[in-house]
Amino acid sequence: MRVQALTFFAIFATALSADWPFNVTELQAPDGSITAKFVPFGSTLTELWVKDKDGKARDVVLGYDDNTQLRDDPGHPVFNAVAGRYAGRINGGLFSIPISKAPDPTAANTWHIPTNDANGTVTLHGGIIGWDRRNWTVAAQTPTSVTFEHIDPADEGFPGIVTVQAHHEVTNGGVLRSTIRAKATQLTPIMITQHIYWNLDAFQDGTDNILEHKLKLDSSTVLALNETNSIPTGKLIDVTNTPYDFRTERTFGSKWNDTPKICPGCYGYNSGFVLDKKIDTPITLSSKKSGIKLSIQTDQAAAVVYTAWWLNAPRKAVHGGPSKSYLNSSAVAIEQQGYIDAINTPEFHQNQIYGPSKDYEWQSVYKFSTL
Ligand SMILES: *[C@@H]1O[C@H](CO)[C@@H](O)[C@H](O)[C@H]1NC(C)=O
Ligand SMILES: *[C@@H]1O[C@H](CO)[C@@H](O)[C@H](O)[C@H]1NC(C)=O
Ligand SMILES: *[C@@H]1O[C@H](CO)[C@@H](O)[C@H](O)[C@H]1NC(C)=O
Ligand SMILES: *[C@@H]1O[C@H](CO)[C@@H](O)[C@H](O)[C@H]1NC(C)=O
Ligand SMILES: *[C@@H]1O[C@H](CO)[C@@H](O)[C@H](O)[C@H]1NC(C)=O
Repeated sequence: MRVQALTFFAIFATALSADWPFNVTELQAPDGSITAKFVPFGSTLTELWVKDKDGKARDVVLGYDDNTQLRDDPGHPVFNAVAGRYAGRINGGLFSIPISKAPDPTAANTWHIPTNDANGTVTLHGGIIGWDRRNWTVAAQTPTSVTFEHIDPADEGFPGIVTVQAHHEVTNGGVLRSTIRAKATQLTPIMITQHIYWNLDAFQDGTDNILEHKLKLDSSTVLALNETNSIPTGKLIDVTNTPYDFRTERTFGSKWNDTPKICPGCYGYNSGFVLDKKIDTPITLSSKKSGIKLSIQTDQAAAVVYTAWWLNAPRKAVHGGPSKSYLNSSAVAIEQQGYIDAINTPEFHQNQIYGPSKDYEWQSVYKFSTL
């Protein structure tokens, strides 16, 4: 009787909570300096509250009031999820192991991943259902941390099974730390990022975009991209005297009219910056209006900076939504990761193939302070 009752309860509970991937976990640092909310779906950060210059909390990341929109959003901006198994673009949805510049599509060591970008010529963020649209589960939880897990049984046709855990933790002094570890049963490319969209004003003070946000990037080279499909050409561009030079802190808007044409009539950035690794905190973002400053430490080789030209989604209520929308340049996504499509670009000399004898690890520390 007892067993039957438990079985009945389990089925009943499962039926009740079809939306369990959207259950919110709230983490708060003991000193109240930072509050983060996550959902298991995509290991997604849905809200991040930090203090502005007046001590008032603002939610500095984009997202939806109804988190189930993460699953259904047609524009698929990948709001603050963990992107994988291979973040960013893969040329033609093809790669070989060992890697090569132009994998032979018919070869047995060439893998085919569904394409979902650039008119079906490129795979973006791990395929049609990448890790950002998978149901991760809660593996561990405390009042200040949560660990989500996803077991990827060859999602989208990648080789082997990958078990990934993303650990998110808040600590005193306005710190969020995310650590991602993955193990693979077979040789496979792995390249992960946490795809957070930042707006440090949280759409208060009458601002709609990040053009007045200041960026400092410890980066003297940027990956040259093919204008047709945004795939790296294999060349590196020296940022000196170009709109890519953020080695001295400046606003995004300061060279806006000179920014690379990422599409006809577009402005802004969507590029992979190689981090020089000369300083401890290679990325800082700040806004004078809110007085909020974000400093990012990372173990990754590069950071994609995307000023969100293609964004179009209803805003959260705390950001003035839903009657107002997040539009072009409403936020900047800063994606700490490896070199884009290095699995088809041997000249980058980046080993992005993992397997039974090589685990993957990714870490970033986000520290908030005021100017
Ligand atoms: C995620 O879980 C929901 C609810 O259980 C289910 O309907 C959906 O198919 C799952 N999605 C994936 C990609 O497995
Ligand atoms: C999700 O939340 C619902 C409602 O609070 C609860 O019944 C359910 O057990 C939760 N599911 C998980 C997997 O945490
Ligand atoms: C996709 O195709 C359309 C229509 O042919 C074209 O205008 C557009 O430039 C193409 N985009 C890319 C990224 O190739
Ligand atoms: C850019 O990509 C297009 C489409 O794949 C290709 O036809 C073209 O040769 C590439 N150009 C360069 C300079 O690599
Ligand atoms: C957003 O796009 C519109 C329409 O193309 C353009 O007029 C506006 O200047 C853009 N805003 C920014 C901040 O780039």
